[in-house]
Amino acid sequence: MRNLLSLLLVLAGVSAQRTTEWTFVQNGTSGVVPVELITISPTLMLMYDRADGNPLLLPDGERAWAAIWNLETNTPTPVSTITDTFCAGGAFISNGTLVSVAGQPLETPGQLPEDGRMGIRLFDPCTSPTGANCTVFEDPANIHLAVTRWYPTGLRIPDGSLMVIGGSNINVFYNTGPTTENSFEFWPSRPGEAGTVIPSQFLVDAVPVNLFPRSFVLPSGKIFMIANNISMIYDIETNTETRLPDLPNGVRVANPFDGTAQLLPLSPPLYEPTVLVCGGSATDDSLPTTVISNNDPATDQCSRITLTAAGVAKGWEVERMPEVRILMESVLLPTGDVLLINGAKTGYSGYPSVVGSNVTMSNAANPAFRGMLYRTTFPAGQRITQEGIPTSNIARMYHSSASLTAKGNIMVAGSNTVPAVVGPPALFPTEFRVQYLNPDFITNNSPRPTIQSSPTQILFNQKATLKVTVPPSLALGETQVSLMDMGYVTHAQHANSRLVFLEHTLIGNTLEITAPPNNFIYPPGPAWIFLVADGVYSEGVQVMIGDGGDPPRANQGIKIPFNSL
Ligand SMILES: *[C@@H]1O[C@H](CO)[C@@H](O)[C@H](O)[C@H]1NC(C)=O
Ligand SMILES: *[C@@H]1O[C@H](CO)[C@@H](O)[C@H](O)[C@H]1NC(C)=O
Ligand SMILES: *[C@@H]1O[C@H](CO)[C@@H](O)[C@H](O)[C@H]1NC(C)=O
Ligand SMILES: *[C@@H]1O[C@H](CO)[C@@H](O)[C@H](O)[C@H]1NC(C)=O
Ligand SMILES: *[C@@H]1O[C@H](CO)[C@@H](O)[C@H](O)[C@H]1NC(C)=O
Repeated sequence: MRNLLSLLLVLAGVSAQRTTEWTFVQNGTSGVVPVELITISPTLMLMYDRADGNPLLLPDGERAWAAIWNLETNTPTPVSTITDTFCAGGAFISNGTLVSVAGQPLETPGQLPEDGRMGIRLFDPCTSPTGANCTVFEDPANIHLAVTRWYPTGLRIPDGSLMVIGGSNINVFYNTGPTTENSFEFWPSRPGEAGTVIPSQFLVDAVPVNLFPRSFVLPSGKIFMIANNISMIYDIETNTETRLPDLPNGVRVANPFDGTAQLLPLSPPLYEPTVLVCGGSATDDSLPTTVISNNDPATDQCSRITLTAAGVAKGWEVERMPEVRILMESVLLPTGDVLLINGAKTGYSGYPSVVGSNVTMSNAANPAFRGMLYRTTFPAGQRITQEGIPTSNIARMYHSSASLTAKGNIMVAGSNTVPAVVGPPALFPTEFRVQYLNPDFITNNSPRPTIQSSPTQILFNQKATLKVTVPPSLALGETQVSLMDMGYVTHAQHANSRLVFLEHTLIGNTLEITAPPNNFIYPPGPAWIFLVADGVYSEGVQVMIGDGGDPPRANQGIKIPFNSL
């Protein structure tokens, strides 16, 4: 009956017109501010914060600064670390361990957490559904970065290790002067390179708006980077930087003018990469903080560029959002669309330091309460919509976050505009309430595709068989198999966020997929598989892509023709 109905609807052209109505559900409080938010298992999220007086307590009675969030009970469990996790970056590496790197300088001598700036925090795969016994391992005396870094990017590269990009030696608004750390390093360090860093002219040129440089691995294995209003491609093997066109119209997108960036989905056969950059500020970066204000409007600009010879010749393509935005998160969805959420309409990142911020206690003002959906495959000019996207009543500005969960909804949490926990009557209190933004099919509990069984590991270019079901109502629509890294979310940057559409055949309940051809298309490490049918997606299943060994790994898979710089 349902089959017949959906057939009739398709014949009538109704299916294509299905509109999405998203809804917010608020449930539970995070106990710490999820300044960093990472999906670690089907049921759990990891949250890293500052040690600044959170309500959640460690077993010894101390106030926690890290916690595991349970998506099923909507409760946090404190996690202890030795070094200060605040202002860190990170990534999963090839053996499945989540590495959090760098962080905050020492705040209270003689007391935990210790100086986090050279920190390496290892969180091994967590198989307990409740997170029991899942802990952070640290050995700061022996396992640490080469130099101190605050606000660096962590990126998993094709050999499965971590590239650590930029930062500052101290807490700053503008990253200028002798305390900049305009360099790269790798962890684990390369043979003969322990204790050394690679200077970057690109990062020097991006001063003073170059913290958390937005970076992605391209199908060539080279690294795309954007900071301030400049972009480049970095070749790790030859240590060469090749500059690309500037972002148009003076828009700047790294911290403290945080715009957000995503590598749009990579599709076979040629895996042409396109990067999307939205929000930020077009303020002149030579203006001092005594002149810029938390009422300065953010930009409404989204820009995208295809990183092929032809794409770069064409340059950045500009589109306008319906509203201006800074400090906005971007969440890549299994469909390939991008949800844009959180942030403010005016001001900047960072703690009260610009004009007006001593009144509001925030460098940003005018919270943005309504997200937007960027529809990747729509024609230019029609891609960004607010239709069906609900308005929240919770201000989520500096130190808020949003991440896709394995369940397929978006966890939206945090916001803390001052270096302390503050409640009302502060205009922007520290925010612990957790929300989920649910697509219509989750809200309505409508039939979704399901993945009943799947392998836990797939080698590159290898075929694998999954047992799945697709509800009859969706069976006539297009199917997609999305292999994703949900990223390490912090400060409007979703490092390592990645979606590769897999070649597949679906016959009855048997889905045969082919893993990405090699470690350049998907750097080796953990991933999630979602089955999408007619725009409705399953819950994600976790899989290790590649041989799962410790980094660095030799190249894996097969060479293929591809079209990417
Ligand atoms: C909140 O989550 C708990 C635990 O999953 C659940 O029992 C409760 O029904 C949820 N409340 C709302 C309002 O969704
Ligand atoms: C956690 O570790 C304790 C002590 O080693 C052990 O008794 C317990 O069974 C473990 N729990 C889980 C869920 O692994
Ligand atoms: C990028 O910023 C620099 C420094 O402020 C400026 O000179 C340059 O014109 C900007 N580029 C564009 C395309 O706006
Ligand atoms: C707050 O900022 C305004 C504008 O910069 C300045 O005039 C005023 O003196 C500041 N007030 C305090 C108490 O710092
Ligand atoms: C992954 O590799 C890192 C670097 O060698 C190592 O410290 C970590 O213990 C490894 N994780 C697992 C789960 O073996």
